[in-house]
Amino acid sequence: SSEKPWGGRFSEPTDAFVEKFTASVAFDQRLYHHDIRGSIAHATMLAEVGVLTVEERDQIIEGLEAVRAEIERGEFPWSVSLEDVHMNIEARLTDRIGITGKKLHTGRSRNDQVATDIRLYLRDEIDAIAEELTRLRAGLLDLAEREADTIMPGFTHLQTAQPVTFGHHLLAWAEMLERDAERLQDCRKRVNVMPLGAAALAGTTYPIDRAMTAQLLGFDRPTENSLDSVSDRDFAIEFCSFAALLMTHLSRFSEELVLWTSAQFDFIDLPDRFCTGSSIMPQKKNPDVPELVRGKTGRVNGHLISLLTLMKSQPLAYNKDNQEDKEPLFDTVDTVKGCLRAYADMVPAITSKADNMREAARRGFSTATDLADYLVKKGVAFRDAHEIVGKAVALGVAEKKDLSEMTLEELQQFSGTIDGDVFDVLTLEGSVQARDHLGGTAPDQVSAAAGRARARLG
Ligand code: ARG
Repeated sequence: SSEKPWGGRFSEPTDAFVEKFTASVAFDQRLYHHDIRGSIAHATMLAEVGVLTVEERDQIIEGLEAVRAEIERGEFPWSVSLEDVHMNIEARLTDRIGITGKKLHTGRSRNDQVATDIRLYLRDEIDAIAEELTRLRAGLLDLAEREADTIMPGFTHLQTAQPVTFGHHLLAWAEMLERDAERLQDCRKRVNVMPLGAAALAGTTYPIDRAMTAQLLGFDRPTENSLDSVSDRDFAIEFCSFAALLMTHLSRFSEELVLWTSAQFDFIDLPDRFCTGSSIMPQKKNPDVPELVRGKTGRVNGHLISLLTLMKSQPLAYNKDNQEDKEPLFDTVDTVKGCLRAYADMVPAITSKADNMREAARRGFSTATDLADYLVKKGVAFRDAHEIVGKAVALGVAEKKDLSEMTLEELQQFSGTIDGDVFDVLTLEGSVQARDHLGGTAPDQVSAAAGRARARLG
């Protein structure tokens, strides 16, 4: 059909199902802003090098602005038979300004156009995500500072290990998110390169100025190779890989929040506004936000695999396969933004139940290592000290009492080396205080580490 911009060589209309099957306009509409921005830069450059007249350029730019306004008013007549956002906008431009609209596509192809649009889109989304990530990290650092000396059990194997401060635990999450923020900025460098000018695959016969277009669009530079330009989606994979790792971190974080709000741990409270109830059990207050974030990690991880698999067998250069890059990428962006927003709002509102945390640390023999270290400092070999303390713990388990609750006489039956000063190291405060070095859990170290992290946040 001659309605299609490419209809010239065809002798029958596209099969009605195939038309819908091959169209992307339902989901690539969201690129309209970046598509128009790219077209304006392209037309500006074409006029600069003499391929378009200044009048033609102005007509095109005015027309594109009008199309943008029409889209934003919700009045744009999106057409599936025009396949994608690019051909919809171009056809509408021609409806509005006539024959000059048909000159816009000179020296470019949808192949370099779509690659440019996605990069512009992703660059904006990366900047928005970076902001939300900063907001979440700032909230975590505030909370860590407030909780710098709140004592809780630290775990390995989810069994009580040694006392730590809640602030120290929060800073572990902040470290993960700081690495994610670095990865995102590193990814942005490779997103911010301009493929426009590659045309379909080989470049174009017009005297284009790619450096100029790149500059107009805020790209760091044009890409080097036209074949790679239209087929490369590494930047999208890198972004999804950043996202998968970020979500993996948020998911681990979520898992702990879910555990800690349970009656069995009862370490923290989440405000009601971040929780929901049960339609049958009147007592329930469920930590839906962390659960949902943990669950959404699955789809983001899936999108990464989708894109890797999408690319793995594609010959150079552009293939229609690439149209399948958009939905996983868009959903990754939407999911990550939603999760970050919910977490950045929720984290500052987490409250600790310090008494419960402390009691849990006390119950789990968390200062056993401190007792062993105490014996070592008095000359006992570490392996012997380990054995001595193990026996003391066995008594504690049998009699349901913590090491700090035993009398000196009780402790001395395991080793004559133990003196009255032992009770200093058996306290939870003494234990965390003693780990007073860079990276340790002593409250002063936690405050200092939070301060450094805040300085890095900028
Ligand atoms: N809708 C297409 C995509 O998303 C645009 C590029 C189409 N190019 C082509 N030669 N069919 O990838």
